[in-house]
Amino acid sequence: MNLSFYKGRHLISASDLDFLTKQQIFSETLEIKRLYENADGKKALKRILRKDGQPLRFLLLFWEASTRTVLSFQRAISILGGHHETIYDAGKFSSAAKGETIRSTIRILGPAYDCIIMRHDCKEDPEALKTAVDTCGEYGLETSIINAGDGKGEHPTQMLLDLFTVWELRRKEFENGELNYAFVGDLRDSRTIHSCLFGLQDYGAKKIYLISSINNNLPEWLTEKVFLPMEKVIDICPVASEVNVWYFTRYQRGRKGDKCDCKTVTKREIKYAENYGVTDMLLSLMKKNAIVLHPLPHGPEYPLRVDVKDARFIHYNQADNGFYVRMALLKLLFARDVDLKIAEAEEKTVKIYGQVADLEISIRSIAAVCAGGNCAAVRMPGGWVKVSSMEEKEIIHKLGKAYVICPECGPRF
Ligand code: NCD
Repeated sequence: MNLSFYKGRHLISASDLDFLTKQQIFSETLEIKRLYENADGKKALKRILRKDGQPLRFLLLFWEASTRTVLSFQRAISILGGHHETIYDAGKFSSAAKGETIRSTIRILGPAYDCIIMRHDCKEDPEALKTAVDTCGEYGLETSIINAGDGKGEHPTQMLLDLFTVWELRRKEFENGELNYAFVGDLRDSRTIHSCLFGLQDYGAKKIYLISSINNNLPEWLTEKVFLPMEKVIDICPVASEVNVWYFTRYQRGRKGDKCDCKTVTKREIKYAENYGVTDMLLSLMKKNAIVLHPLPHGPEYPLRVDVKDARFIHYNQADNGFYVRMALLKLLFARDVDLKIAEAEEKTVKIYGQVADLEISIRSIAAVCAGGNCAAVRMPGGWVKVSSMEEKEIIHKLGKAYVICPECGPRF
């Protein structure tokens, strides 16, 4: 186990996760995807977020709006057998509205939850997430803090789903750092891009084009820490044919203090879309096998319906992966002892001979298997029964159930 979370158990920045931890999360994500597709696997997943038979408790504490992040965390927690509660719009609907500090909120709520998943605008308090972590340390609280987006800072779990999407499709080139990437648009205030760049540091890249206007370049606090072959570019078309992985993002007007009504498209966004969006010209220049990502929501820079006719646009798969990746992350953080392969196998059923008809029984209810070579008897809490085939007995053997001799095979006196 290679855990490298911040202070051992908090996820605040994408840079908290080292190469091996990310690889572990990605492999776990694949396994969870497989399990989620079958009924036995789904039942096995239900055991992950449990301690002494009780569900682990999660609080989603969100100051900012969210669709995908909040729902995928909630679904992931439910599927894994945990319990979740949510405070939406916490600046209005938690005691923060009455002036309660983060320190006080975490001190009050921390003891009641195993994990607090927090999204904060960080407008007045850029260090809100760190304050939450420090509060846990100062008061000896066992709760873990996960950053679900902190203002213009970072969004580390989005990095996991973005990079997993590339890893799943182009694993070898991704791991060998052989891909060319383009991050396009509002690089300054897009926290998903900041986290992606931190995440990519462990894998490397052939080239990373940073395509933006001068005003929207990456912030200095990030460029000081990211060492990748990056090149600033103002015009998108000249580099288009080089790029393997595209990453578009909306113009982050809410993070720039724009006062406009967020539902109407502004002139600035239209201009932004012309320069840093998906245009017909760009579509014709992109590689045939390029991967195009967008964290969503999108503005006019991204004509979403393009995915109907263009398989390069995989934002829906990307968003779906958020659910699986978050399950893998929570498993790694909270269920270190659950062996999913054993759990899945134990959920299987086998047939036993009945007097009238064969009956299905759960492998979990079998206490022991007869060691007699050709005997298909197994011991249940009520006594010995025969499973309907030797193949079924083989399945049970593999699970390492106790071997004993049944009365029929045992010595008779
Ligand atoms: C992103 C975010 O919140 O930063 N959304 C998301 O979680 N998928 C992207 C954005 O808001 O532009």
